[in-house]
Amino acid sequence: MSLLPHGGKLIQKLSLGANVSHILQEIELDAISLSDLELIAIGAYSPIEGFLTQEDYESVVENMKLKNGHVWSIPITLPVTEEKAATLAIGDEVRLVSGNVTYGTINVSDIFTPDKQKEAVNVYRTNELAHPGVKKMFERGNVYVGGEITLVQRPEKKFAEYYFDPKESRAKFAELNWKTIVGFQTRNPVHRAHEYIQKTALETVDGLFLNPLVGETKSDDIPAHIRMESYEVLLKNYYPEDRVHLAVFPAAMRYAGPREAIFHAMVRKNYGCTHFIVGRDHAGVGDYYGTYEAQEIFSNFTADELGITPLFFEHSFYCTKCEAMASSKTCPHGNEDRVILSGTKVRAMLRNGELPPSTFSRKEVVEVLIKGMKETVNS
Ligand code: ADX
Repeated sequence: MSLLPHGGKLIQKLSLGANVSHILQEIELDAISLSDLELIAIGAYSPIEGFLTQEDYESVVENMKLKNGHVWSIPITLPVTEEKAATLAIGDEVRLVSGNVTYGTINVSDIFTPDKQKEAVNVYRTNELAHPGVKKMFERGNVYVGGEITLVQRPEKKFAEYYFDPKESRAKFAELNWKTIVGFQTRNPVHRAHEYIQKTALETVDGLFLNPLVGETKSDDIPAHIRMESYEVLLKNYYPEDRVHLAVFPAAMRYAGPREAIFHAMVRKNYGCTHFIVGRDHAGVGDYYGTYEAQEIFSNFTADELGITPLFFEHSFYCTKCEAMASSKTCPHGNEDRVILSGTKVRAMLRNGELPPSTFSRKEVVEVLIKGMKETVNS
């Protein structure tokens, strides 16, 4: 039996194929709200049943909890312009559309103007527009619409063969008879440190739920199809087939560091994980967060409140003296012997036409990345 979803029940808000053409009002969704709509509907965001109302929103921004007391660290909002908001009223049923397709409906229970400065400072720990998550938040509409949703049409499934709803991943874990499952979030091309921490965790749990994020990311992140192909070759060559379940996470990246680490853990709990990996600077960007702040934030909550066990990892690297992957917990050598790895560094090397060494990334992965970079440049 997998552990319970966050809040005790897997939320299901789907009514696929329902005819909603009689509803005249509509709200246009951006890429983030379309992915959030789907993730709410399939229960990935349980116990959330819709876009946050003002009370829930303020409680999340201030206390990292929904008003019912469940831990929730990232506001899931439906922003609209002031002009659009003026046409809406509480109690309205509104179609949620994107590119002329109706994906769902919302029962409007709240329309409110958020304090975005406060949201920036509390959620992102900065109000600088140079931060991609903050910039995005300020670019979106200035009024938020709250209310329960229903999904009537699935958005196109990118990487369909790796697309599993929480219900399906839970069924898969049961079928595999995995009792302990560690979730791994990533948005970067896979490097040796990722492999090291995943395999270290795999030494103590039954299975790895490898869950790369494939929703909206900032423009200089490596495109998702290249990252997915990297994982395919890595798994084929270096992982036991029956210990890993690769599935995409169709959410947008917020780059909210510590707060996003909590969010990532809660969502993976809904997908059926018992454990969740948090390494160095999880979901961070630039120098906005301290190396281990995304780990420290977990101490704000009890084990019961979280309901998933975070597995923290030190900054890991390849040590040329140890001739192995290690961290300062296991390696006595100095910086001069250490090959420091990061997604940012891999991206920079690839952009400059340099080949990351095998201490950095497996050769099969490097080949995929180089091929992918050439495609991106030529397209
Ligand atoms: S993230 O933005 O999705 O967190 P990334 O794909 O780089 O970015 O990281 C995935 C996970 O691996 C995160 O938990 C991160 O903390 C961890 N991680 C990445 N690089 C290292 C490293 N060198 N040492 C330890 N943990 C790392």
